[in-house]
Amino acid sequence: MARYLIHSIKELIGIEEDNKLLLRGKEMAHVKSLTNAWLLTEADKIADYGSIADPRFKELRSQIPENFQVDARDRLVLPAFCDSHTHLVYPASRELEYVDKINGLSYEEIARRGGGILNSARRMQEISEDQLFEEALPRLDEIRAMGTAAVEIKSGYGLTTESELKMLRVIRRLKQESELTIKANFLGAHAVPLEYRGRQSEYVDMVINEMIPQVAAEELADYVDVFCDKGFFTVEDTDRILNAGMKYGLRAKIHANELDYSGGIQVGVKYNALSVDHLEYTGDEEIAALLGSETMPTILPGAAFFLNMPYAPARKMIDAGLPVAMASDFNPGSSPSGNMQLILSMASILYRLTPEEGLNACTINGAYAMNLSEETGSISIGKQANLILTKPMDNLAYMPYYYGINKVEKTMIKGKF
Ligand code: NIG
Ligand code: FE
Repeated sequence: MARYLIHSIKELIGIEEDNKLLLRGKEMAHVKSLTNAWLLTEADKIADYGSIADPRFKELRSQIPENFQVDARDRLVLPAFCDSHTHLVYPASRELEYVDKINGLSYEEIARRGGGILNSARRMQEISEDQLFEEALPRLDEIRAMGTAAVEIKSGYGLTTESELKMLRVIRRLKQESELTIKANFLGAHAVPLEYRGRQSEYVDMVINEMIPQVAAEELADYVDVFCDKGFFTVEDTDRILNAGMKYGLRAKIHANELDYSGGIQVGVKYNALSVDHLEYTGDEEIAALLGSETMPTILPGAAFFLNMPYAPARKMIDAGLPVAMASDFNPGSSPSGNMQLILSMASILYRLTPEEGLNACTINGAYAMNLSEETGSISIGKQANLILTKPMDNLAYMPYYYGINKVEKTMIKGKF
């Protein structure tokens, strides 16, 4: 059983020993830390930590073999990122469409012309399961190098039963072969295929009667998702799909209120969704619906930035007492980056979150939004040893401040660098 002793840590940040599964409102501004610290891992877990003044430290220094000791001088140790919303299994990039966008076409216009998600869905029919897998694997290496240890991945570029199952089987293979902790989310209702235009409810019928039962029979998904928004799926469609998902034990985690006050937040809360995501159009009614619920409001700064959309009112939500998680939305259409360090920077630059609030949004609250916060998302004894060792820096504020480069020296996942 391998044990690592990380020592001489300038600051060990993100300690949480109160068994909190999430942080809301004012709690988000607080991050516990220890300076001049050490941390011991045992197998895949955090076994202990303390300050170097602690007498146990001397003992550990002499017990643990030299090559299992990591000198973290001048560096910080943080909980690894928990990225609770991605579409990182996709068949091809879409940079030409992005140029169309620069030239003035809106996301909805591109979608109406059969571009966007439907473009990815066309490519999905052609690609083999093996190739899809081979192309996704390096994206996991990429996000790991940037500090992510746990990630949710959606289907939703299939839009036929066969292709949706193909995507989910690839996600299952990634779960088996990657060190990262992965959660799978079934997003059959991501867009209405062209051949179902004008008969949207028939497509919803297929999602409910054909896709969900097969997804459940093969145990391919942990969650069910719907893009509940203007021009995509209605509240009624969403209600039907979430209801069907519930019967198969699939908890909701949905796209809501990205393009309008769609009612998505309210229907999500009605089904006790684990999270409602995007939230650009969140007003007082939506905040009221979320207060007192167990649903994590999740903001996706990368998509709002990339699409030049209004920013979700994160500050207002936190000030109202809500928890907030932030995730990358890594996908080829609206957020072609899985870099959570950039999300942390956007949290403060665009949404006025403090570095502490941003860190909590990208770690413990993200973990909650994947139902993983008992396992990861903070520095807590007994949780998985999912850690970031930063490059040399003085304090947490440097993480969001010095944006655009990789400031992670190493990511430890389940006790392994
Ligand atoms: O989360 N909003 C809906 N779905 C994705 C976009 C996916 C795409 O354009 O390929 C999102 O931003
Ligand atoms: Fe998304």
